[in-house]
Amino acid sequence: MSATAFEGTSEPAYGAPAPAEGRPLVEVRGLNVVFRKGRSLGAPRLVRAVNDVSFSIERGETLGLVGESGSGKSTTGRALLKLVPYTAGEVRVAGRDLSGLAGSELRRARRNMQMVFQDPYSSLDPSCTVAASIAEPLLVHERLAPREARARVTELLELVGLTGGHADRYPYEFSGGQRQRIAIARALALHPQFVVCDEAVSALDVSTQNQVINLLERLRAELHLSYLFIAHDLAVVRHISDRVAVMYLGRIVESGPTDRVYNRPAHPYTEALLSAIPDASPHRVKRERILLAGEPPDPANPPAGCPLQTRCRYVMDVCRQRMPEATPVHGGGEVACHLQTSGPNLSGAPLGGAATP
Ligand SMILES: Nc1ncnc2c1ncn2[C@@H]1O[C@H](COP(=O)(O)OP(=O)(O)OP(=O)(O)O)[C@@H](O)[C@H]1O
Ligand code: SF4
Ligand SMILES: [Mg+2]
Repeated sequence: MSATAFEGTSEPAYGAPAPAEGRPLVEVRGLNVVFRKGRSLGAPRLVRAVNDVSFSIERGETLGLVGESGSGKSTTGRALLKLVPYTAGEVRVAGRDLSGLAGSELRRARRNMQMVFQDPYSSLDPSCTVAASIAEPLLVHERLAPREARARVTELLELVGLTGGHADRYPYEFSGGQRQRIAIARALALHPQFVVCDEAVSALDVSTQNQVINLLERLRAELHLSYLFIAHDLAVVRHISDRVAVMYLGRIVESGPTDRVYNRPAHPYTEALLSAIPDASPHRVKRERILLAGEPPDPANPPAGCPLQTRCRYVMDVCRQRMPEATPVHGGGEVACHLQTSGPNLSGAPLGGAATP
């Protein structure tokens, strides 16, 4: 199915026309998510899974989100869709502030935002045919007649590189890559503008990963989608993202254009993460492998000052006293590290020549 046909059948998923031309599609300011973890004795532990996070995503842009396990990537993605409640902050999608929305208004707003997970079974019921899974949002939200819904199912399957002949099969009859294509078709059924891909290709083998990434890129261009692309694999994120944000202990510690962040990281955490990627290019410069000492601190009891201080090879006294503020980086983006304001590396220079203590 052509992109035009797909778009042509769409009605604005948001009801009222977007009042936000010229503004980024997604605007996140000061987002906080706190989980209470119960304890049998004493007060519950408060886990700050997302801590004062701000970013924006332009229309048609992909923002990659990387960081170690537990850094808060999935919680950020889920909070954008209000799948977990946020305790403070503002999320705007297409100009609409989601904070106060609930019930039917929130359900309507969510049509414009979808999520694709690592495990396609999160969105595909194994006991339902592919047609039933993809048609469900069309029947519920667009109230299409069964015949119309069936035609749209075929269009959607063709859009993701499958055929109408696949519609009456069950998810277990497909390969992992095909199942992920079906999950993507379902996510696109209601014409969203924004899709959160949470480790969407992480469970696939390398060649299938490439195919699904190519599919996501084609769909982004044809349907003018914006993605938040969350993944552990920094090489995959580099390939697909226009900009990248790096999370540590619930905070974004660095962000910027992908090439700048990968070629000239300005935060010690980014530098350490990137040092672990094998570089397959023929012109590679041998990179020193930088190991972060120890484990991340308990998110319920983070240290005062910079969250990386217990593992950072550049740590200074000021790092234990004050939280570093976001500073512009030469070449684009921001970094939160005292090296860039009070250390040997001023004004957002890359880390290469920084002195070790
Ligand atoms: N529902 C929940 N209840 C309590 N704590 C939670 C919940 N979901 C996540 N957390 C905690 O929030 C923090 C961030 O978790 P999150 O799943 O967002 O990390 P992540 O970066 O996506 O990790 P991974 O790469 O392993 O998927 C972790 O400390 C996690 O234990
Ligand atoms: S602020 Fe200090 S401890 Fe934190 S990353 Fe920068 S140099 Fe390391
Ligand atoms: Mg996750």
